[in-house]
Amino acid sequence: MTVLQIGAAGGVGQRLARLLVARGDAVTGMHRDPAQAETVRASGATPLTADLVDDSVDELATKIGGHDAVVFSAGGHGTGRDKTTVIDGKGLEKAAAGAARAGVSRFVLVSVFPDALRAGEPDEGFEHYVKVKKTADVAAFIDAALHEPALSRVIVELTGGETPVTEAVARLVSS
Ligand SMILES: NC(=O)c1ccc[n+]([C@@H]2O[C@H](COP(=O)([O-])OP(=O)(O)OC[C@H]3O[C@@H](n4cnc5c(N)ncnc54)[C@H](OP(=O)(O)O)[C@@H]3O)[C@@H](O)[C@H]2O)c1
Repeated sequence: MTVLQIGAAGGVGQRLARLLVARGDAVTGMHRDPAQAETVRASGATPLTADLVDDSVDELATKIGGHDAVVFSAGGHGTGRDKTTVIDGKGLEKAAAGAARAGVSRFVLVSVFPDALRAGEPDEGFEHYVKVKKTADVAAFIDAALHEPALSRVIVELTGGETPVTEAVARLVSS
């Protein structure tokens, strides 16, 4: 499978690239800062400079074209509401429109579990949990889900549990 990652230099992006490359996929890693090219290359992906804010939908479509799937794990990551709006919001819309224009229908979005942070006081333990899940299970889940064609048009909430990722994906498909 050929995969275009948007947000390839990020925490999830780098871990996912390693998993995909290990199973034999060809991964293009989109990053916005040219200085991140080596980081992306070190994860096994082929670096490609692009910016969700500066690039047009047509430019994104050209970069996405020829891939089997897109994984979107870009984000402003707490750098301000404006950044969230233009990157996580508008940037996602542009990327999805670019993928549609390029005829790439397999699009995996790393989003946020809306209820997870809604329950009142900030909790250090939970923050740590989110960090740990982000560095392992999220990438592992995307790796497994991308290669399960029957898993389509679904929202999956990753929370916790002892079930191995591949088994969890298989159960989702059969449910
Ligand atoms: N995994 C979880 O548990 C979890 C929880 C909540 C939300 N999420 C979502 O998953 C995303 C990925 O998590 P992460 O830890 O990998 O985040 P991260 O390390 O901040 O990675 C996000 C990547 O997006 C890139 N990016 C930012 N603006 C961009 C733009 N305009 N064009 C192209 N790329 C751009 C960043 O590049 P720069 O280095 O140039 O900024 C960075 O490489 C988060 O942003 C969030 O939306 C994940």
